[in-house]
Amino acid sequence: MDSDCGRKGRQLSPELGGGGDYHYHHLNPNQRHLFFNHHLLKVVVMCAMVTLTSFMLYQASESPFQILRRSIYSSFSFSSHAYHSVCNSSSRNYNEELCLIRVLEKSAMADKTVIITALNEAWIEPDSIFDLFLESFKIGNQTNFLIKHLLVVTLDQKAFRHCQVVLKLNCYFLKTEGVNFSVEAHFMTQDYLKMMWRRMDFLRYVLELGYNFVFTDADIMWFRNPFPHFYSDTNFQISCDRFWGNPIDLDNSPNGGFNYVKSTNQTIAFYKFWYESRELYPGIHDQDVLNMIKHSPVIKEIGLEIKFLDTAYFGGFCQPKELDSVCTMHANCCAGLDNKIHDIKILLDDWRYYLSLPEDVRKNRPPSWSVPQSCGPASFGQHTPRKKNVDARKILGNFL
Ligand SMILES: *[C@@H]1O[C@H](CO)[C@@H](O)[C@H](O)[C@H]1NC(C)=O
Ligand SMILES: *[C@@H]1O[C@H](CO)[C@@H](O)[C@H](O)[C@H]1NC(C)=O
Ligand SMILES: *[C@@H]1O[C@H](CO)[C@@H](O)[C@H](O)[C@H]1NC(C)=O
Ligand SMILES: *[C@@H]1O[C@H](CO)[C@@H](O)[C@H](O)[C@H]1NC(C)=O
Repeated sequence: MDSDCGRKGRQLSPELGGGGDYHYHHLNPNQRHLFFNHHLLKVVVMCAMVTLTSFMLYQASESPFQILRRSIYSSFSFSSHAYHSVCNSSSRNYNEELCLIRVLEKSAMADKTVIITALNEAWIEPDSIFDLFLESFKIGNQTNFLIKHLLVVTLDQKAFRHCQVVLKLNCYFLKTEGVNFSVEAHFMTQDYLKMMWRRMDFLRYVLELGYNFVFTDADIMWFRNPFPHFYSDTNFQISCDRFWGNPIDLDNSPNGGFNYVKSTNQTIAFYKFWYESRELYPGIHDQDVLNMIKHSPVIKEIGLEIKFLDTAYFGGFCQPKELDSVCTMHANCCAGLDNKIHDIKILLDDWRYYLSLPEDVRKNRPPSWSVPQSCGPASFGQHTPRKKNVDARKILGNFL
C-alpha cells in the first residue's frame, strides 16, 4: 500500500489546471470555495482516488495482519503463550505480535474496546505527568475501573519494564527502527515525526485486529467516565482545542490527543488514507494533516462521518468549561513541560475541592477552574508563536 502519491502530488500540484475536478459536483458551496483556493486539496483528491482504488483492492484480499493473526492462532497453544511469557522481553518466548494480541485480550472491555496511551523513559520519573494521569483515574468519579482497560504503549525498554514491574499495568513495547525513544525527541524534529506516524500505523493495526480504542495523551486527566458521552452514530470521534457547537462542523479544530475509534472497514480505510497523506504534506504532524484532509471527499467515499467532541465534556486549557459536565481535561494550549505539570497539579486540586463540596453547593454555586495559570498565553512568552509551535517543548511521549 505504499503508493507514491506524495511524490506524484508534489510534482503535479503547480500545473494542476482544470483537471482533477472529478469530485467538484459532490461538494457543497463551502467546500467548493475551499476547492478553488487550495490546490493541494486537488492533489489530495487525486491521491485519494489512487488510495481508494488500492484500498478496494486491498479489502478484497485478506490483510497481512489477518493472515498473521490466523497463523499465530493456529501455530501456538493459548495457555503456553500467556501474556507474562510472550511479553517478557528477557524471556526466549518473547514475541512482539503475540504480545500485542495477548495484551489487547487482557485489557479490552467486553465490547473489545481498549484505552491506549503512551509512555517513554522521560515520563517515568516520580511526579511525572504519567503519575498525575494515573492519579486522575483514582480521584475521578467512578473512573478507577477504567485503569484495567488501559493499554500502555511503551517506547523504550526502561519504560516497558517500569510499566510491567512497578506500575503493573497492561504494557506493550512498540519498537521503531532507527529511533532511540528513551531520549527526549523535541517537537517537530525528524524523530518526533517518525514516532508520530509510527503511532498512526500502530493504531491502524489495532483496528485491523478488531479492537476499538480510545486514544488518550497522558496529559489528559480523566475525571468522569467518558463512554456515556460519546456519540453512538459515528465510528470516528475526536476531541477539539475549540468546539464551535456543531459536532459535524469540519471547522472545529480537532486535537489528536484524544479520540475514540471503532474498528470498521471505514475507519481502517481512513487510517490508511490519513497515514498515506503524510507523504503529501511532509514535515507536519498527524493533527495538521488531519486538518488538511478533513474536507476531502475521500472521507465521504469511505463512508465515514467524523464527529467532533464537545469541550463541555472533553475539555482543555484552550477552552475550559464547567466542572459540572467535564469528563476529561487536556493540558493543551500550553508551552513547556514544567508549566504543564504545574497546572495539571492545580487541575487535580480543583477537582478534589469540587468533590469535597456539599452536593447542593456543587449544583447551585459550582466553582470554576483556576487553570490555566502557567499554561495558556502566558506560557508562550511575549511573542505568540504560530499555532504549530504551541507545544514546542512537548516531549514525544506526550504525543504518542
Ligand atoms: C469489510 O471488509 C471485509 C473484507 O475485507 C468484508 O468481508 C466485509 O463484508 C466488510 N464489511 C462491511 C460491513 O462492509
Ligand atoms: C522474565 O523472564 C526472565 C528470564 O526467564 C525471568 O528471570 C524474569 O523473572 C521474567 N520477568 C517477569 C516480569 O516475569
Ligand atoms: C458521580 O457518579 C454518580 C453515579 O453516576 C452520580 O450520582 C454523582 O452525581 C456523580 N458525582 C459527580 C460529582 O459527578
Ligand atoms: C538510547 O539513549 C539512552 C540515553 O542516552 C542510552 O542510555 C541508550 O544506550 C540508547 N540506546 C540505544 C539503543 O542507542
